[in-house]
Amino acid sequence: MSSVFSPIHEGNTYFLLIHGKFLRSESGKTITGQTPFDGTPTYTIQAATKEEIDRAYESAAQAQREWRRVPLWKRAEVVHKAATILREHVDEIATVILREVGKNRKSAVSEVLRTADLCDYTAEEGLRMEGQLLVGDSYPGQPRNKLCLVQRVPLGVVLAQGPFNYPCNLTGSKVAPALMAGNSCVVKGPTQGAVSALYLTAAFHFAGAPPGVVNFVSGRGSEIGDYLVQHPLCNCISFTGGNIGLEVAKKAHMIPMQMELGGKDAAIVCDDADLDLAAKCIVSGAFSYSGQRCTAVKLVLAVESIAEELISKVVERTRALTVGHPEDNCEVTAVINKAAADYAESLAMDAKEKGAKFLLEYRREANLIYPLVVDHVNESMKLAWEEPFAPVLPIMRVKDEKAAVAFANRLRYGLQGCVFTRDVNRAISLSSSITAGTIQVNGAPARGPDHFLFLGHKDSGINAQGAKWSIEAMTKLKSIVINLPEEAYMVAN
Ligand code: NAP
Ligand code: G3H
Repeated sequence: MSSVFSPIHEGNTYFLLIHGKFLRSESGKTITGQTPFDGTPTYTIQAATKEEIDRAYESAAQAQREWRRVPLWKRAEVVHKAATILREHVDEIATVILREVGKNRKSAVSEVLRTADLCDYTAEEGLRMEGQLLVGDSYPGQPRNKLCLVQRVPLGVVLAQGPFNYPCNLTGSKVAPALMAGNSCVVKGPTQGAVSALYLTAAFHFAGAPPGVVNFVSGRGSEIGDYLVQHPLCNCISFTGGNIGLEVAKKAHMIPMQMELGGKDAAIVCDDADLDLAAKCIVSGAFSYSGQRCTAVKLVLAVESIAEELISKVVERTRALTVGHPEDNCEVTAVINKAAADYAESLAMDAKEKGAKFLLEYRREANLIYPLVVDHVNESMKLAWEEPFAPVLPIMRVKDEKAAVAFANRLRYGLQGCVFTRDVNRAISLSSSITAGTIQVNGAPARGPDHFLFLGHKDSGINAQGAKWSIEAMTKLKSIVINLPEEAYMVAN
């Protein structure tokens, strides 16, 4: 079947995109992925060389000098067109996401459509970017005829690096604002998820982005990551991923960064909470996409007085989850690879050895871990502190909500959190006391809708995401001070 995306591959082998050309790497080296659920080979991607990375950056730097001059409305046309291409090819791209990262079909389709909506919204938001005019005499002793024009200007070349769990959407959430801001991009896809990220990048190419404005390289982060993030032509790093982001931030001196990293989002359930609502949100929050979301509920802090009732509701709902193959739209499917499954298992077993109680039978078939609720977790256990990134939900019982907040604030992460209570004063007071980018009141942690502010405190990130905030993170401020002759100003008035 013919598709606009035909040039991005030959059979199962997918290409790099450098200066508007899809090509094989001169390294002759490739990487073949496997499905998370049954290990069958998926797609073969290129392992780019350092010279190819140089070419991608050089092309991006050269193209950006022209792109920044392209009128905003024309940039918006390209971004809107990319959204249309994504919608027109939703099934093709969703199938790739399903195979590469094991997301169920419904969620894979939703990821593509969500990305198209994000592109449309970001295009509009880019058109509304505003500057500021300051007048001198608002400062004591200063004259009226001194004016300061403040505007946002592009950064240059943005390195866009995303994780496996939203390979299309989290690449789109970087490329769309980068382009609206007048930047060009070098996209490095996650190795498992690279083809989904290539589709996303190619959508902008086929939408009319001039050669070099979007480039795509693939290869293992452990091999080419340092070269990419320390490249002299890199002017901004937009990185989403795990703790490796902390190392990236150390290596990239003085480069503006948008870092969206790990989370250990806690759900604090107060004694006056609607426990059915809390249980519903906790279970969907903890187990959707098998817990492989930065915003998954990764710890429940249950106040003793309601803990028994809450936990029985959580367990009942967890038992009802569908487990199996992503094509069957199961809620819980295999995690990304064996290493991830082994890691989650090791956290669960460490907790069990130290006295935690499994409330459901532990079952694992290859990379498929059945949803597990672990009660009586305490701070001696790694599960209390680390993100399992798998369908494993730890519950810690706490004396009161003060103890809950105190523990949440000792976690290294500060992405999101949630508070369940019927008392609005309590909700605001608790939310204000927790160190995290966002607290959801009576709802599960979530990034969307995608125009909302999304950010992490502590080790969860630097700078913010969300249509408007991403554009801001990918621009810098510049001011022009105009010293009008006093008479001219008087005449103008
Ligand atoms: P990851 O291992 O940190 O990978 C993220 C990206 O970094 C990938 O493109 C990866 O490439 C690359 N990378 C690996 N080693 C590198 C190095 N030495 N230098 C530069 N780049 C390198 O994350 P993941 O396992 O894909 O995703 C799961 C993690 O992401 C979780 O911790 C989750 O909480 C977090 N996450 C955060 C957010 C957020 O918005 N806060 C959103 C989604 C996920 P390769 O694939 O080639 O290794
Ligand atoms: O994995 C991290 C994503 O940013 C979470 O997005 O809350 O929409 O699932 P989500």
